[in-house]
Amino acid sequence: MSDAYDLDAELTRAAAALKHATKVTVLTGAGVSAESGVPTFRASDGLWEGHRVEDVATPMAFEANPELVWRFYNGRRVNVAKVSPNPGHLALVELENRYGDGFAIATQNVDGLHQRAGSKNVFEVHGSLRRTRCVNCEKVEDRGLDDLGNRPLCDHCGGFLRPDIVWFNEPLPTGVWRRATCAAEECDVFLVIGTSAVVYPAAGLIHMSKRARSPGATVIECNLDRTAASEQADIGLYGPSGVTLPRLVALL
Ligand code: OAD
Repeated sequence: MSDAYDLDAELTRAAAALKHATKVTVLTGAGVSAESGVPTFRASDGLWEGHRVEDVATPMAFEANPELVWRFYNGRRVNVAKVSPNPGHLALVELENRYGDGFAIATQNVDGLHQRAGSKNVFEVHGSLRRTRCVNCEKVEDRGLDDLGNRPLCDHCGGFLRPDIVWFNEPLPTGVWRRATCAAEECDVFLVIGTSAVVYPAAGLIHMSKRARSPGATVIECNLDRTAASEQADIGLYGPSGVTLPRLVALL
């Protein structure tokens, strides 16, 4: 960011765009939950809580070492049970109150903090830590956030359970993804919050919001720093989203 960067001016521009909007769509990533105490993914050492991604978040990893994968996800579940939504999540609830059905959040996060804050129209494009899926009968269940042990089994058929999370090399859930793309294509303002915007297809929603119609959506990026999304952003709110989002909402 240049020395001439003026957050107040960007907040004023962002508020003006939101005042004119009837449809607002948001893409969130791990950064929106950072101030709640949930670690982001691409920390400087490239590890997730001490694990290489290939060891814990691929179908191959689950086949090779399901106990390790469950230990990792049980740890994440228990951590998320201890944290609370932060002022950034709450500001997004206020935005939903303003725009009603014209508001949607497509989140890459699996922590459920948007829903715990009170957001309703949330598309979890990468799944949810709370849910399990049976690898045999495919039954999906909300199992809360307790530790499920190293090899949980399906109550229905006795098959092995896996986290209902999208791993690397897996497709996104079709219905949820379709709703997320529609919301991106139809909105007047697209907010990109706390994501490095390097994981596709989720990051492709930004492009869709700008290109689906003419004129496309005004893209507002909220992040600590510039990212892969910054070139597509019309407005940049650089700083912690737990601070910038409440300031933005206060201007509406
Ligand atoms: P990353 O860890 O890649 O990026 C987090 C982003 O949040 C970075 O751009 C940070 O600068 C920013 N950030 C950190 N703290 C912030 C704060 N307080 N306020 C605002 N921004 C902040 O996480 P994601 O982009 O979410 O996928 O990663 C995308 C996907 O990669 C994840 O959903 C996960 C992972 O592989 C799956 O599990 C399928």
